[in-house]
Amino acid sequence: MGNCYCVLVKRMAEVTIFEVGPRDGLQNEPVFIDTAQKVSFINMLSKTGLQKIEATSFVSPKWVPQLADGSQVMEGIQRAQAVAYTALTPNERGMIRALDAKVDEVAIFAAASESFSQKNINCSINESIDRFRPVMELAKAHNIPVRGYVSCVTHCPYDGKIDPGQTRKVTEKLLKLGCYEMSLGDTIGKAEPNDIENLLTILQGVVSTDKLALHCHDTYGNALENIKCGYERGIRTFDAAAGGLGGCPYAKGASGNVATEKVVRLFEQMGVGTGVDVTLLEEAAHFIKDKISKINDD
Ligand code: HMG
Ligand code: MG
Repeated sequence: MGNCYCVLVKRMAEVTIFEVGPRDGLQNEPVFIDTAQKVSFINMLSKTGLQKIEATSFVSPKWVPQLADGSQVMEGIQRAQAVAYTALTPNERGMIRALDAKVDEVAIFAAASESFSQKNINCSINESIDRFRPVMELAKAHNIPVRGYVSCVTHCPYDGKIDPGQTRKVTEKLLKLGCYEMSLGDTIGKAEPNDIENLLTILQGVVSTDKLALHCHDTYGNALENIKCGYERGIRTFDAAAGGLGGCPYAKGASGNVATEKVVRLFEQMGVGTGVDVTLLEEAAHFIKDKISKINDD
C-alpha cells in the first residue's frame, strides 16, 4: 500500500519541490526552537509527498546556533522511504557529522560574490572551493550525492549587481567538483524575471538545464514570477520553505524563502503536477509558524 502511494506520487510529480524550510527557514530564527518541534515539523513535511527535505545543516554552531542540534534532529525524525533528507556541509568537519547522522544527500554552498563568501563562510570563493574538495571525496567514498548552491546569482547585499559571467564561473567550478545539481540562489530576492532570463541564457549555453535548480527568496514578491520564468526555460527543480520562513543570517535584507504552498499552488494553476498535498503542507507550515510566534511572544 505504502509503495503504491510512493509510485503514484512520483508519477504525478512533473517538477521537484525541494523543501528547505527546516534549514533555510529556521536558521535565521533568533530564539532556539526545541529539537522536538523541528522533528515534528519535518515529520509532518514527510507526509506531504515532498521528495526532498533539507533537514538541517552541519555548519559551525558558533555561526548558526539555531541548527546546532542537527545530529539530534536527524536522529529524531521518522524517515519516509520516498524522501531524501539532506543537509548543508561547509567543510570536512560538517561532512563527517553529516555521515554520522546518516543523511541521504549533502549540499556545499559557494557564492558568486566575494563579499558574501567572506561574510557567510569566512573565506574567498577560491578558498571555499578548496574546502569543498575533501567534502566531495568523503561523499564519493560513501556514495552520497552532493548538491551545490551558488548564492547571490544576480544581486549581492554587499557588492550589488552580479555579472552573470561570474555566476557561470562558480556554477561550472562546483559542477566540475562533482555536484549533481546546482541551485541558483537569489539570496536577497532582488532578481526580476529579466535577470533570471539573462542568467539562464548564459548558463544554458554551458550547463545542461536538468542540472539547474532555482532557489528564490521572496523579499520583494518576485519569486513566483521568477519561478515561472525558470519553468518556461526548462528548469524542473525549485527550492521553497513551508510558510515562507527564513533568510540568511549573513545576508542583510534576506527575508523568507518563497513559501512552498505558494509554489505548489502556482504549479497547480499551471496544470503542472508537484505530487505534494497542499493541505498537509499548510498544516506543517501552520504548525511551525505557530510554535515560532509562541516562542517570540514568551
Ligand atoms: P571559521 O570561523 O572561519 O572556521 O568558520 P573555524 O574552522 O575557525 O571554525 C570556527 C569554530 O567552529 C571552531 O570551533 C570549529 O571547530 C567550529 P572552536 O575551535 O572555536 O571551538 N567548526 C565546526 N563545528 C561544527 N561543525 C562544523 C564546523 N566547522 C567549524 N562543520 C565556517 C568557517 C564555514 C565553519 C563558518 O563560516 C560557517 O559555519 N558558516 C556557515 C554559515 C551559514 O550556515 N550560513 C547560512 C547557510 S548559506 C545560505 O543560507 C544561502 C542558501 O540558502 C542559498 C541562498 O539563499 O543563496 C544556501
Ligand atoms: Mg537561501
